[in-house]
Amino acid sequence: MKTITLHNKTFEVSISENEISEIINSMANQINNSGLKNPLFIAVLNGSFLFAADIMRQINIPNCEISFIKLSSYSGTKTTGSVQELIGLGQNLKNRNIVILEDIIDTGITLEKIISLLKKENVADIKIATLLFKPDAYTKEIPIDFIGKSITNDFVVGYGLDYNELGRNLPHIYKLKE
Ligand code: IMP
Ligand code: MG
Repeated sequence: MKTITLHNKTFEVSISENEISEIINSMANQINNSGLKNPLFIAVLNGSFLFAADIMRQINIPNCEISFIKLSSYSGTKTTGSVQELIGLGQNLKNRNIVILEDIIDTGITLEKIISLLKKENVADIKIATLLFKPDAYTKEIPIDFIGKSITNDFVVGYGLDYNELGRNLPHIYKLKE
């Protein structure tokens, strides 16, 4: 299979565009059949922009909404080194049924932070949907409601995921070539 180079590292195709689309069809079916009422999907930027766009076209729950957040690790002009706040949440989340859309869950540190920030907004319920999951890297107890595909601990890029900001535009998902 064709390889690609980003910042002098070589990657090979791991999950093809076709497979991604099958995974997303199946996730959308599960979410559509899960009994969610008036859900507010929240996609975590930047990585989940393609996943969110593709899955939302297949969600047919009445009165569903989508919004986007980005995490900030800055406090004033200094980085704190840890994820601190949600930027872009301009709406009232009180009593909403939230579905977080993530591109990938690795250690789960980011997820845990997002959940603690959402809980402060007094949401009714939080479900989690992630395209990719690395079970061997996951360190948290938080159950993940919808998993597209579990993968080994390889570093992956493409379809929204980046290697130092490159590769987000690629239609397939690639893994680092050994
Ligand atoms: P966590 O907080 O360790 O779960 O990592 C979550 C974030 O790390 C993801 O949202 C990605 O931005 C990034 N990340 C984790 N694994 C990968 C990978 O294999 N490729 C690209 N980014 C990754
Ligand atoms: Mg991310």
